[in-house]
Amino acid sequence: MTTTIGRDVYKVKELLESGELVAIPTETVYGLAGNALDENAVLKIFTAKGRPQFNPLIVHLASWADAEKYTKQIPEEANLLAQHFTPGPMTLLLPKNDCIPDLVTAGSNKVAIRIPGHALTQQLLHAIGFPLAAPSANRFGYVSPVTAQHVLDGLGGRIHYILDGGPCTVGLESTIVDFEENETIIRRTGAVTREQIEMIIGKKVLVKTSSSDHPVAPGMLKSHYATQTPLYYGDLKELCNQHSHQNLVIIGWGSPHMIAEKAGFQQQSNHSKVNIVSLSDSMNLEEAARNLFACMRKADSFGCDAVLVEKLPNHGIGQAINDRLKRAQHHFK
Ligand code: TXA
Ligand code: MG
Repeated sequence: MTTTIGRDVYKVKELLESGELVAIPTETVYGLAGNALDENAVLKIFTAKGRPQFNPLIVHLASWADAEKYTKQIPEEANLLAQHFTPGPMTLLLPKNDCIPDLVTAGSNKVAIRIPGHALTQQLLHAIGFPLAAPSANRFGYVSPVTAQHVLDGLGGRIHYILDGGPCTVGLESTIVDFEENETIIRRTGAVTREQIEMIIGKKVLVKTSSSDHPVAPGMLKSHYATQTPLYYGDLKELCNQHSHQNLVIIGWGSPHMIAEKAGFQQQSNHSKVNIVSLSDSMNLEEAARNLFACMRKADSFGCDAVLVEKLPNHGIGQAINDRLKRAQHHFK
């Protein structure tokens, strides 16, 4: 199968209507999309991605007004959040309607609903008459793609078409929000923060992103977003001491000079080879989020012994960045 990269929304519509898969751009990461109402197309997603079928898929809609066709009993908090944050980087877990195949939700009675904000994908969703099931367009377990080229690197030859919408502007997967009895719970951190959600719904929100708290999202169970090179994350100086005499990639933020200083490097170091990659020269958390997955892929391309990553400030989107890095760690369980 040849994989084409382009901007032909009409071609993508045709492929999806005939049950094929395409990669689509969103503001968070690229998605691997198929008709959510067609079980065969959904099966193809699991195969192309190499993903186990117990891990459910997010359903993408053109607008929040469509959500009532695919869900039932939408809580008031969900309505408020959808009105404020969608189209945008947020996914809502809602009781599913029977028309959504069990394969999409891995047997759960809740479906994950997302309204992506990217203009090309908005155009596509309005043009087709069905919702799109789409996980991130990477091979299972690897780093999510934030450019069309990243998708090609992982899924080239496995899908017909990659709709090229340029680099993703957020760079981290959507915030997933769940509703249980009277509680609102964040299941995955993302660009929309707990503080922003609390402002809108006017009450405290729980953050339960660990595996034990959320058996219905097995995607969160084990190492995810991981580089092939073992990755370690924390205080740069400590990590460098632990990994002396190795060929290293160091990912931090600030200028490369600052990162080298934080890592405790002198001109003559014990390390035979060190590559420094900055997430954001100007120490901007949004920029760091946007660059994270590309930097992780770049780190892999050096073929070093280890990737050492600096822990970033744990506020705003920094919480989501740290969450992804924790899961990317070599020994994360
Ligand atoms: O930003 C995003 O959300 C991207 C773009 C493409 O939309 N999608 C994405 O999909 O990150 P994926 O499949 O890589 O991650 C979706 C997460 C998984 O951890 C999955 O377990 C969880 O959402 N999930 C999906 N449906 C669910 C459901 N019905 N109940 C609980 N968790 C669900
Ligand atoms: Mg994913």
